[in-house]
Amino acid sequence: MDLFTETIIGHIMHPRNVGKLPDADSEGMGGEPGCGDWLMIYIKVRDGIISDISFLVHGCVAAIATSSVTTELAKGKSLDDAYQITEEDIITALGGLPEYKLHCSVLGTTALREAIDNYRHSDKQAIG
Ligand code: FES
Repeated sequence: MDLFTETIIGHIMHPRNVGKLPDADSEGMGGEPGCGDWLMIYIKVRDGIISDISFLVHGCVAAIATSSVTTELAKGKSLDDAYQITEEDIITALGGLPEYKLHCSVLGTTALREAIDNYRHSDKQAIG
């Protein structure tokens, strides 16, 4: 596949959950050494569920789409289920990604898992 799907273009034009959550319980970062781009994901956790999530990204348009759909996939999921989201899940949710953009999906899983790990190792774990 060479072109962006309509779903990808929709996320690029109207990314979901953009910005920094001012009262986030945790945050995580993903970086792609190959291209120097990065993604920050912010989460709020209630009763073990990701009740809110947002992102800030510095990267290509595909990174905007993969970040946006990662937040959609994770919102409302338990921490355990969100941790299991894979690059393949992200790519499938977007209807595919061009071969040369597949690596952009790694930002989403890396940042999300780091946010969950950081939450689990914080003192908020006992509260949330
Ligand atoms: Fe770097 Fe897409 S080219 S994240």
